[in-house]
Amino acid sequence: MDQASRLRTMVEDALRTGQETWSVAKERSLKDEMNELRVISVTSGKGGVGKTNVVANLALALCRLGKRVLILDADLGLGNMDVLLGLNPRYTIQHVLSGEKRLEEVILNVPAGFHLLPAASGIPELTDLTHAQRMFLLDEFDALHHFFDVLLIDTGAGISSNVMYFNFAAMEKLVVITNEPASLTDAYALIKVLANKYHQKKFRILINSAKSNREAEQIYKHLCVVVDRFLGSLSLDYLGWIPYDENVPKAVRRQQAVLDLFPLSKASKKFMEVAERLMSFSDHCEFDGDVKFFWQRLLKTAH
Ligand SMILES: Nc1ncnc2c1ncn2[C@@H]1O[C@H](COP(=O)(O)OP(=O)(O)O)[C@@H](O)[C@H]1O
Ligand SMILES: [Mg+2]
Repeated sequence: MDQASRLRTMVEDALRTGQETWSVAKERSLKDEMNELRVISVTSGKGGVGKTNVVANLALALCRLGKRVLILDADLGLGNMDVLLGLNPRYTIQHVLSGEKRLEEVILNVPAGFHLLPAASGIPELTDLTHAQRMFLLDEFDALHHFFDVLLIDTGAGISSNVMYFNFAAMEKLVVITNEPASLTDAYALIKVLANKYHQKKFRILINSAKSNREAEQIYKHLCVVVDRFLGSLSLDYLGWIPYDENVPKAVRRQQAVLDLFPLSKASKKFMEVAERLMSFSDHCEFDGDVKFFWQRLLKTAH
């Protein structure tokens, strides 16, 4: 067996034995009442920059660091996390919104080791929810901090109101940018709206599909200069970069996360680095609110 297959078998075994079902996770977590849940939205100005891949691979990387991770697919118009992961969810967040299903019946246990709350296409805008629906959702979501360490939200692209609400409500906002000029200008436009209209001051920046460290840093610096000049003092933390890697589209075609399928690829190694860096930040306490606050803020803003 070559080194790559040995490592893959090792990782697969570790995942199998370490994997928890939702109900086990629930039992275990009842013991750690004080568990803190980090809510991180992954967003971009422009579509197609790699958000869904970033979310899936970061989720997997965080699992490997021992974190319990839930992905919320909030790309409500075009939920594609399930497609990326080769899943066929029976129920979606829509069943929770309509009160037909409890949250725990809808959350999927993804074989790779994390959990997913699938999106629904054709779901109503958050603004259309009734008061009763909001109250039900708040109750349901409030329990999540018992079961997870990290909630990663795939928000969808652009500055539509739903995308804004999720970004406003999440404590940490991770903006994904590529080397395409439109990606940078659209990221700027998104940060501008979040800063001016929603008074958000702190963002984490991840450069995706970069050719080199140098290129990634240049994109980041360019953003900093423009933000500094036109938006004043915002905090833009550099989270790192993911290289352009042919293994990413290959894994997408096989409906798996690249970290799962090609754990030794360039992109996979960087996803592990970025996940470690994300966990090493201790400033997340400076972002306001806890998970309850997140849902309240989400549902109250979208009024
Ligand atoms: N680091 C990368 N290297 C090569 N291709 C990538 C990389 N990241 C994303 N891609 C490709 O870009 C396409 C769009 O990615 P996706 O995650 O669906 O973007 P988004 O969710 O932002 O719309 C996918 O087909 C994926 O294979
Ligand atoms: Mg996407």
